Amino acid sequence: MNLEEAKNLESKYVFNTYGRFPLVVDRGEGCYLYSTEGKKYLDFLAGIAVNSLGHAHPNIVKCISEQAKKVIHVSNFYHIPSQYLLGKKLCETSGLDRAFFCNSGAEANEGAIKLTRRFQSQKGKDEIIYFSHSFHGRTIATLMTTDKDKYRAGFGPFPPGFVKAEFNDTNDIVEKVNKKTAAFLVEPVQGEGGINIASKEFMNALSDLREDKEVLIIFDEVQCGIGRTGKWFAFQHYDVEPDIMTLAKALGGGVPIGAIVAKKEVSDVLKPGDHGTTFGGNPLATSVGLTVMNTIESDKLIENAVKMGDYLLKKIDFMTGMPNIKDLRGIGLMVGIEFEGLCSDYVKKCFDNNLLINCTRDKIIRLVPPLIVSKKEIDEATEIMKKAF
Ligand SMILES: Cc1ncc(COP(=O)(O)O)c(C=O)c1O
Repeated sequence: MNLEEAKNLESKYVFNTYGRFPLVVDRGEGCYLYSTEGKKYLDFLAGIAVNSLGHAHPNIVKCISEQAKKVIHVSNFYHIPSQYLLGKKLCETSGLDRAFFCNSGAEANEGAIKLTRRFQSQKGKDEIIYFSHSFHGRTIATLMTTDKDKYRAGFGPFPPGFVKAEFNDTNDIVEKVNKKTAAFLVEPVQGEGGINIASKEFMNALSDLREDKEVLIIFDEVQCGIGRTGKWFAFQHYDVEPDIMTLAKALGGGVPIGAIVAKKEVSDVLKPGDHGTTFGGNPLATSVGLTVMNTIESDKLIENAVKMGDYLLKKIDFMTGMPNIKDLRGIGLMVGIEFEGLCSDYVKKCFDNNLLINCTRDKIIRLVPPLIVSKKEIDEATEIMKKAF
């Protein structure tokens, strides 16, 4: 299918909810995507921090084809071994105790909000504090925790019980917490917000308030989790553990999956019938999730994220001091380049030179390449980025 045909079909048959680049995807391999018109693109967006093992990774291909021959989906009325094994892996790597599986990041956060409300209901605590520049999803409830008015326009009314505080501002959280506060919902490293890294003081303040005010901590690791920042989970860079953690994106390496992982005493408030979803924890998604985590471990991809993240930051250091560049920042393979002005033209120039990156909050370039990325691909990407200025 060529670009013209794709555009015609899209405009005729698909909701007009995405602005798309002129690339019709045919296939991918490693860090590269290939268009139906034979062009090769270096993919430093990775499906927005999803394809951590790159495209068409042999372990994922093998797992999907073998699992599809056995069983793809069954109801949660029956035991699903891969669901339990992935739950075990998530608990062992996070220090949490129980997992619930769903299908996306928004669904995981929606579930985490329900879990919090149920856990705190006896104490009359029902408010969730979220933070400036956050993104937690686009369901009706998670939109209330996503700091972007535009995303809510025309979709109301919305449920009450959500309070905004400033990210990395310890005074503001102390001010916003009250006896109705049930939980903090926070991304340890904000993705859509422009690669904003939580400060140690901020995280410690959340932890202190948890003790003093009986507030739960929910870490949204949908974008920063599963090895990307150089630890299994970004919260492990700090001295604070969550009561609840949410995951999606990279967990399935491209196959849709989400998860809520929680302390036992928290997860215990949900009983059979209290929460559920048809596809959640199905044999295909959970066996792929397990394959992704095992491959990250066996191929030392967390170590690679640390090394390649440092290398990438060094390679883009040529931008420091350029008049249109405000800041360069990153942790592992989550790197942000903040422009003084809009960066959409720059993204387009990179695209025209066959590099896929994106721009978030209008002014921040986000680089989230696959965790398998090598120096060679980083060299190639940064050459294109130099040329695009
Ligand atoms: C931190 C974070 N939470 C939640 C979401 C929502 O995930 P999904 O798009 O899978 O619903 C995203 C998506 O970008 C995200 O970055």
